[in-house]
Amino acid sequence: MANIYGVLGCPVHHSLSPVMHNDAFRELGIAGHYYAFHVEKEHLRDAIKGLKALGIAGVNVTIPHKTAVIPLLDEIDNMARQIGAVNTIVNENGRLIGYNTDGPGFVRALCEETKTDIKGKRVLLVGAGGAARGIYFALASAQASRIDVCNRTKSNAEQLIEQSAVSIASAAYSLQEAEERLAEYEIVINTTSVGLYPNVDATPLSLENLRVNTIVSDIIYNPLETKWLREAKEKGAVVQNGVGMFVYQGALAFEKWTGIFPNVERMRRIVIQQLGGKEC
Ligand code: ATR
Repeated sequence: MANIYGVLGCPVHHSLSPVMHNDAFRELGIAGHYYAFHVEKEHLRDAIKGLKALGIAGVNVTIPHKTAVIPLLDEIDNMARQIGAVNTIVNENGRLIGYNTDGPGFVRALCEETKTDIKGKRVLLVGAGGAARGIYFALASAQASRIDVCNRTKSNAEQLIEQSAVSIASAAYSLQEAEERLAEYEIVINTTSVGLYPNVDATPLSLENLRVNTIVSDIIYNPLETKWLREAKEKGAVVQNGVGMFVYQGALAFEKWTGIFPNVERMRRIVIQQLGGKEC
């Protein structure tokens, strides 16, 4: 009998995960089916119990459940606990174990796509929400030399740094302060939703002071090339869009469920096809 997998979220109908994972199951000859499950906040507890009752082999968890799901699981992996968010659950013989593959997925995509080693790099994160938290932790684990965080609300950036379980050189800045210091960084990452469809004319940070060859990464993948990434390219930056993070978080989850790391190039092609575009 095929194993059942899925994603729990709200909204979830637009998720690209089912088509990406189902293709990987088919390609690898694994008997698995992946579905999108719309779960409202008040039903999360029952949905998690249902995973056990129905013998569902594994799920992804997405907005708005990544933090709320933690107390409902039997075990939380160390990194997920320290990030404070779970995006992947494995059902191991009736025990539900929570992991976070978002942060590690981002770092792996960044390293492989831009051919960069994070170790020793000076990084600026734009934004201080849930996505920033996971990426901050994973970058620190990959031994960046410093990670500064800038945010519209500076106090949220201060809080992210204070609450982080890792100790690394870090400072919090307002957006304007960061814009002035931009030339200090080798890697600049947008973790906010600024520039996301349909607000495609918005940009999160002025790139006026950007140095040539800086790596500029945007976790947004709709549009595939945000206005901000276009501006970065014009400034001579090496750019990366959010498809890589999405694909690698999925590939790492797939590996946790099946023990097999899937073909990420194939996953990437499928996701880009679904987004109806050509990669920038
Ligand atoms: P996620 O969990 O997906 O990261 P989030 O927790 O809502 O989402 O975080 C959103 C981030 O984007 C925050 O850093 C937020 O800044 P504030 O802390 O000031 O709210 C940032 N953000 C969202 N909309 C923004 C906007 N229009 N301009 C600047 N920053 C914005």
